[in-house]
Amino acid sequence: PVRLGVFGNPVAHSVSPTIHSLFAELRDERILYDRMLATPAYFPKAVAQFFRNGGSGANVTLPFKEQAAQLANILTERAQVAGAVNTLMKVGSGFVVGDNTDGEGLVKDLNSKGFSVSGRSLVLLGAGGSARGVLPALLSLNPAKVYLVNRTLEKAQVLKRLLVDLSAHGAENIQVVSNADSINEPIDAVVNATSSSLHNIDIPLPGSFADNAWGYDLMYSETSTHFLKQLEKAGVKKRADGLGMLIEQAASSYQLWMGGERPDTTFVMSKLRPRTY
Ligand code: ATR
Repeated sequence: PVRLGVFGNPVAHSVSPTIHSLFAELRDERILYDRMLATPAYFPKAVAQFFRNGGSGANVTLPFKEQAAQLANILTERAQVAGAVNTLMKVGSGFVVGDNTDGEGLVKDLNSKGFSVSGRSLVLLGAGGSARGVLPALLSLNPAKVYLVNRTLEKAQVLKRLLVDLSAHGAENIQVVSNADSINEPIDAVVNATSSSLHNIDIPLPGSFADNAWGYDLMYSETSTHFLKQLEKAGVKKRADGLGMLIEQAASSYQLWMGGERPDTTFVMSKLRPRTY
């Protein structure tokens, strides 16, 4: 079997082994996909050991995505722009390539849910690693306006400057804001890349939403996330959590490792009950 796995901390409840095993089953391929717990100090050694012992590819999840970008031998362009790696793969005799399929995963899931970005006013909440991972992909969909909102304004300013310096598509048009409720127009789309749902706390929402507005939380959970409950109260009818993105980024990673067609995600989606509240 092809040896794959995911590095994270915590990693015990990762759904990735289930997702990748289902892809393999559907395509009649043999893989071994392990959960690999690491610490920041031990992570570089753990990665080296995994590839030395026959590993072919690995996913990387919190809190190691930035560290993985440091230790990969080569980064794809989108991993460079994201400053973070969620997919490692061995090429040739020893080089390890770092890629990032998170943005592509989000875009695929938004497409399949009919959540459109092109020509619409978009609000991205957060300016940490998660926001940085998805912002370039959202910009590539040509929103009419992008508000980048972060409690610590300076972090949003730094992120905008970074993307402008990297000539990321549409980066010049980002408007940086410290509080979403100061935005003075009805918003079509809002993506939560803060940790608000992790801590079960409210974060400020845009003051008003367009009739057909949608909202997306990068976090996912068994029940509605805190952010999606907030959106429901605000009258936003189209809502989804990040389970669809997780499955789509996994499909992109699987294709990178195993070649061939991108795995079909519909079966896995129905099996894991993605929620559109
Ligand atoms: P990640 O890698 O998941 O993005 P992070 O880098 O710690 O994690 O970023 C967390 C994000 O959630 C940040 O944008 C953070 O805002 P600050 O930069 O101002 O810290 C945001 N966040 C966390 N708690 C928040 C809160 N109570 N209200 C508003 N934003 C919050």
